[in-house]
Amino acid sequence: MKIELKAVEKYYNRGGSNQVHALRGIDLTIDANETICIHGPSGSGKSTLLSILGGIIGPTIGSAVVGGKKLARLPDRFLTLYRREHIGFIFQRFQLIPELSVLENVTLPLLPLGVRPAQQKKRAMELLEKLEIDHRSDFPAAEISGGELQRAAVARALINDPSIIIADEPTAHLDTRLSEDFLSIMSDLKKLGKTIVIASHDPLVSESPVVDRCLYLRDGALAAAF
Ligand SMILES: Nc1ncnc2c1ncn2[C@@H]1O[C@H](COP(=O)(O)OP(=O)(O)OP(=O)(O)O)[C@@H](O)[C@H]1O
Ligand SMILES: [Mg+2]
Repeated sequence: MKIELKAVEKYYNRGGSNQVHALRGIDLTIDANETICIHGPSGSGKSTLLSILGGIIGPTIGSAVVGGKKLARLPDRFLTLYRREHIGFIFQRFQLIPELSVLENVTLPLLPLGVRPAQQKKRAMELLEKLEIDHRSDFPAAEISGGELQRAAVARALINDPSIIIADEPTAHLDTRLSEDFLSIMSDLKKLGKTIVIASHDPLVSESPVVDRCLYLRDGALAAAF
């Protein structure tokens, strides 16, 4: 799905003494079949930009149009529905529920979609196998390694077969082989026509043939594209 940001500004705590102007004048169009990498220093606004692209937060000023729909115009419950159906988000801090098993975490996004339990489990186990963590499916998320958590987070993001995949530093906790596996999964998704946006410091990601275009963020502004 095509994503368009127009004149986006994002402030946190606007007007307060702790105000942060996190994004400035962002104009960005991402085509439906594009894979984009966003890099830039810590605090430059990468996670903020991804959250806006994924409909998790709205811009303070400007607009985000995804698949022809203006996100700011959607009431909250539609926005939630929209995220559940179309977006797969791999968070920088994973956001898995520690007490639930890997399998339960991965199937969680399917609960509100009314998918039958047997079907949920089948699809989740296929993804876990592909990501080589099926042997951890019954472990509580609290008891697996950083790299395993990362892959469980990838499985959870893909369980709803999203048209847009957004990944925040997806390879930060992975070794080279697992990072390459992650990129190969992205490459398969790209072939299916998915839109992929990855924030990453990792040269393995930014220099990967999977990535069509890299954007550089500095102090909340897009500095260059190459
Ligand atoms: N919820 C929030 N409330 C207030 N300020 C925030 C919030 N989230 C982020 N910020 C601030 O906004 C700026 C951009 O943060 P963001 O997390 O988008 O950066 P980033 O590029 O993802 O950094 P990193 O590489 O460290 O993950 C930073 O100055 C950060 O402190
Ligand atoms: Mg970040």
